[in-house]
Amino acid sequence: MYTVYNTRPTFSTGKNKMERKKITIVGAGHVGAHTALWLGLKELGDVVLLDIVEGVPQGKALDLMEASPVEGFDSAITGTNDYRDTAGSDLVIITAGIARKPGMSRSDLINTNSSIVKTVVEKVVEYSPEAHLIIVTNPLDVMVYVAWKISGLPPSRVMGLSGALDSARLRAFIAMELDVSVEDVQAMVIGGHADEMVPLRRYSTVSGIPVTQLIDAKRMDGIIERTRNAGGEIVSLLKTGSAYYAPSAAVAEMAESIIKDKKRIIPCAAYCEGQYGVDGMYIGVPVKLGRNGVEEIIEIELDEEEERDFRRSVSAIKELIDSLEIESMGIKDTRP
Ligand code: NAI
Ligand code: 2OP
Repeated sequence: MYTVYNTRPTFSTGKNKMERKKITIVGAGHVGAHTALWLGLKELGDVVLLDIVEGVPQGKALDLMEASPVEGFDSAITGTNDYRDTAGSDLVIITAGIARKPGMSRSDLINTNSSIVKTVVEKVVEYSPEAHLIIVTNPLDVMVYVAWKISGLPPSRVMGLSGALDSARLRAFIAMELDVSVEDVQAMVIGGHADEMVPLRRYSTVSGIPVTQLIDAKRMDGIIERTRNAGGEIVSLLKTGSAYYAPSAAVAEMAESIIKDKKRIIPCAAYCEGQYGVDGMYIGVPVKLGRNGVEEIIEIELDEEEERDFRRSVSAIKELIDSLEIESMGIKDTRP
């Protein structure tokens, strides 16, 4: 007689009963499914994949479970169309929405995706009121503001994927330029997740050596421009959607820092209350990510040019929020 073990929400190691974390991913498309894979490989917890399309989250979850013996990861990955299965999640990653096609900017997605994000967040918080939320859906800085407003959660528990991805791209381009290991390259991109993002060359290093000493200004200008357009570069190559390997890896990096309370300093879209002169809105800034979510916004000095570029980025996000007519969605706009 065999005992059939179902998914195991808890397990014991000696005296310490360890509880597995529960992570929900809403949107089982390209970014969502790949995020589930990274979370599984990192064994960050059990993963629930939810989508409106019937069969897709179930099929992808089953496929991922069948990969788990090969890679040897013990995360239960399940697929569903029912929010009741997401109940009690510690972390919810929202990737639901439409993605860009060639010729579209991230802001072209605003009306469709804001109503998707609104519906999704209402359901998510109903079943997981204690969760942290990481928003991925574009246009990112606006969607994270909508999600925070709808959720009623403290801003430290609602954040967006932006700089983790944008700085990974800058790191990759610097490593490619210098033919050095990506492991040794650190880089920082702040501002909105949009064409006006602000890659900071002064805060980018290779093994501690400022990149400004290794790459001449003209070459670095080219790398910065490529970073700003990196999402669009992938869209124009793929033709049918946008990037997902690097985005899913970057969101898993944020999730790991929260779940393991690593307190890593990662740039992401965070709610500013006066930091960087920004009040009452989300924008990409370096933050400390730990078990309490955004535990601190790290304020770095910006020179005149960086400050000017950052202001331009903030203005672009402000204009995008204005264009949404947020109050018509039943959301009170509390920006000063
Ligand atoms: P995708 O089209 O592959 O997947 C989106 C999924 O959302 C689909 O499976 C769709 O059925 C699902 N969906 C739509 N409405 C839903 C709803 N109401 N409830 C549940 N699921 C719903 O798109 P992909 O490539 O995964 O991108 C997802 C979003 O993430 C896009 O808006 C994209 O622009 C954004 N993105 C943002 C990045 C960032 O750095 N912030 C990076 C990459 C993508
Ligand atoms: C990207 O940067 C589409 O925002 C997404 O690839």
